[in-house]
Amino acid sequence: MLRSLIEAWPDEVYTRPLVTTRFLGQRTTYVCAPGHIRSLIVDQAGALEREPFMLRALAPALGSGILTADGPHWRGQRRTAAPMFRPDRVRAFIPAMAEAAHATRLRWLGQMSAHGSADARFDGERDILPEMMRTTFDVIVATMVSGDSQLKVEPFGRAIDAYLGQTPWKIALSMLRAPAWMPHPGARAGARAVRYLRSEVARTVERRRSRGEPGADLLGLLLQAKDPETGERLSDESLIDNLLTFVAAGHETTALALTWTLRVLADHPAVEARILDEIAGLGADPAPEALDRLAFTRQVVLEVMRLYPPAPLIVRRTAEEVRLGDTVIPAGESVHVPVYALHRHQSLWDRPDVFDPDRFAPELTASRDRYAYLPFGAGPRVCIGMGLALTECLVILATLLPAFRFVPAKAEMPATQFRVTLRPKGGMKMKVVPRHAH
Ligand code: HEM
Repeated sequence: MLRSLIEAWPDEVYTRPLVTTRFLGQRTTYVCAPGHIRSLIVDQAGALEREPFMLRALAPALGSGILTADGPHWRGQRRTAAPMFRPDRVRAFIPAMAEAAHATRLRWLGQMSAHGSADARFDGERDILPEMMRTTFDVIVATMVSGDSQLKVEPFGRAIDAYLGQTPWKIALSMLRAPAWMPHPGARAGARAVRYLRSEVARTVERRRSRGEPGADLLGLLLQAKDPETGERLSDESLIDNLLTFVAAGHETTALALTWTLRVLADHPAVEARILDEIAGLGADPAPEALDRLAFTRQVVLEVMRLYPPAPLIVRRTAEEVRLGDTVIPAGESVHVPVYALHRHQSLWDRPDVFDPDRFAPELTASRDRYAYLPFGAGPRVCIGMGLALTECLVILATLLPAFRFVPAKAEMPATQFRVTLRPKGGMKMKVVPRHAH
């Protein structure tokens, strides 16, 4: 379980609609059929609450923000923040995304010329995951707190890593019903990281308040946002919870989607060529609306997230009894949607392990059950940043792919590892080779 929660799933989650397991007297139902999933996380969403083990892993850092809160406190925050993620807002963030993507491009080229090899002979191998994390972190910082140069990106990123690194222990100990104070590897570093992260974000909010003018970035919008029903603004505590939530929920997931995409493309040169053609068709310096023309690139990202969903598991606890067909699940039990298994389920996908972006062509998508594919979840708690994340992936791919080829260090795909997110085990080592001498 510590190695990877996915390996602890029973094999039946890939073949059956509902699977129940028992662990130390606690029942968990895995819900793997689209109809049951819809019934659970959409129709009976009101009977569900956050799973305690996820709260134990995340609440020390994220408090009671949109990802971790339940009930009216969640609803109010979700209503208040939702307008910030509307398509027109996301579009306004595109220049900031493009700038962060260019910074990565320049960083790599700079490192290459520092090695005296700014041409196709450059053979510097790097782990692409931290590189993409840096890029998506720059994007989230630029969209959230544009121009606040006092927020130090590197120590902040390291603190997030230190925090997330120890979450599997928190999850495992919570499942074993060990008390929250129980020591475990990484606990002290994790606690230190939380103090640092929360105080940095609090200082950022203070700096913005003292500027007197909120600004048009996410923080500015959050500072001004009012609950459309109650007219209330977010408290400072809620602001900190949610800013950290957006960083935590938004940067690693998107970085993983990109990392797996770059690796999969290395094995599928014909697909990569189609993407490059599509990007070339945009011309130089495209307008934000031009991204809509990257339809095939988008299909590729969707298919990569089918095989490698960055959030591979959706978990809930029943607060009241729920019914899935003839099955009754009493209150107080765990109900899990094993997204990774759903996306490779034998009865839902033809040749489930084969990469084929044409599965996401509009006709095929329309003929498939919407609940067979859940990289962003569904129902009232569907990912609030879905549009932002997909747009960001397109902007970053359109900036990096025409400039570089990515050559995997090893022929075989890395194994997957569950760290709340789905990481490549041992990282994603690839050579980054410039396509043209600069
Ligand atoms: C490829 C990138 C992303 C993936 C795969 C992803 C996936 C998900 C999934 C599966 C959920 C639902 C979890 C559940 O039902 O328990 C979720 C929720 C959430 N996501 Fe994302 N996400 C991504 C990017 C982002 C970004 C960029 C942001 C914000 C800037 C974000 C913010 C959130 C928040 C706040 C929630 C909680 C929503 C709620 O409970 O009401 N995510 N995400």
